[in-house]
Amino acid sequence: MAGCIKIEDGQTFSKEMFCIPQHYEDYLESVLIPKGLILNRTERLARDICRDLCHGPLVALCCLKGGYQFFSHLSEFIINYNGTSGHSVPFSIDFIRLKSYENDGSTNDVKIVGGSDLSSIKGKNVLIVEDIIDTGRTMEKMLEVVSQYKPAQVKVVSLLVKRTPLRSSSYRPDYIGFEVPDRFVVGYAIDYNEYFRDLNHICVINKEGIEKYRT
Ligand code: HPA
Ligand code: MG
Repeated sequence: MAGCIKIEDGQTFSKEMFCIPQHYEDYLESVLIPKGLILNRTERLARDICRDLCHGPLVALCCLKGGYQFFSHLSEFIINYNGTSGHSVPFSIDFIRLKSYENDGSTNDVKIVGGSDLSSIKGKNVLIVEDIIDTGRTMEKMLEVVSQYKPAQVKVVSLLVKRTPLRSSSYRPDYIGFEVPDRFVVGYAIDYNEYFRDLNHICVINKEGIEKYRT
């Protein structure tokens, strides 16, 4: 089991210490993971992934929409590593979209609502890139869908994994950026009803934010 950075309950930064867009200031409780730390951790994940997985063509599969920032930075680090380590493999990208969330509660209903034809992943090493794993059920469904296209190998990297011992299906991804408290988080492309994607740091939303942007 790969290690990760564990963020303890209550281990947060004051939002006053960071630049927060003014339109979100009143709706956040605290900063959980500053963007700089996300990028530093992502660089190391890219190295670990390349060492394990770059033995043949690699396809990185982005889980939209929340995974797009992480996917973009991780891909950049993988491409840099590939270009400088003396050994390289063809690297390509694709996108998939599964939806399981409305408001701040997880529904059991998980469906594919977008993405491309995945027939190109047949026989290749596939890296699924996800923003956050909560109960693990969305990823179990994703793995079912992806394996139907007969990839050579599938690994999963998630930037965040929530500590949800009571709700969780016990699924753990192959690579994890951070293990985080069971709080509703937003920012770095992770949304609450489509809001907060335009926030650099991963933050904890407050009660006012949950109310303000409820659909
Ligand atoms: N924030 C946004 N989306 C999510 C979360 C979260 O904390 N958990 C599962 N999906
Ligand atoms: Mg997601």
